[in-house]
Amino acid sequence: MSFISQEKIERKVGWLIIMTLVTVSFGGLAEIVPLFFQDSTTKPIEGVKPYNALQLAGRDVYVREGCYNCHSQMIRPFRAETIRYGHYSVAGESVYDHPFQWGSKRTGPDLAREGGRNSDDWHYQHLMDPRSVVPQSNMPAFAYLKDAKVDGETMQANMRALNKVGLHKYSDEEIANAPKVVEGKTEMDAVVAYLQGLGLALKK
Ligand code: HEC
Repeated sequence: MSFISQEKIERKVGWLIIMTLVTVSFGGLAEIVPLFFQDSTTKPIEGVKPYNALQLAGRDVYVREGCYNCHSQMIRPFRAETIRYGHYSVAGESVYDHPFQWGSKRTGPDLAREGGRNSDDWHYQHLMDPRSVVPQSNMPAFAYLKDAKVDGETMQANMRALNKVGLHKYSDEEIANAPKVVEGKTEMDAVVAYLQGLGLALKK
């Protein structure tokens, strides 16, 4: 006879709740914990590099403007998805994304492999006035990004912070150079640089 009998657990609702939680958490832990140690989920795949200062600025704008409310960056491993967008997303592509932008809302198309899909000129035109290139688009215009400058010092602080929380290892030289990389660039330049770098590692 075990020390806590089945009958006792089923009669006392408090015990039933506690033992159910214990059982469920074992299952959860067994599935989740190994992911923290697997190479396939913790190491960048070949060709994935940390964003440079300009792309990083573009990523910040992407998050600030809420682009993720309409765009996912997560291609699922289904045929309909891979035919449309290309290779499905793998975890090793997102190791430098803090926070990741996978999302699930798709008012617009997935952007995980947007890099190189359209020209820079197309992106500028599209951000200025989406309906001038895609007449049926309901994407808002982001023309004001053209008038905002990227701040070099902010990017330096950003890179130092990422060195602390992520796998990033921005060198002192890269951080010192950041203001030069973003000098004279607008937030629109930054977003376009960010978009053009998305998903290239697994693109043929
Ligand atoms: C209200 C929803 C909405 C928001 C917010 C939004 N988009 Fe879009 N986006 C769309 C829709 C719908 C399309 C498809 C029509 C088109 O191409 O304009 C689209 C298309 C795009 C495309 C073209 C993708 C392709 O290859 O066809 C890019 C790039 C893009 N959006 C970037 C952005 C960026 C960057 C932001 C934030 C600054 C953003 N979007 C915010 C709805 C949105």
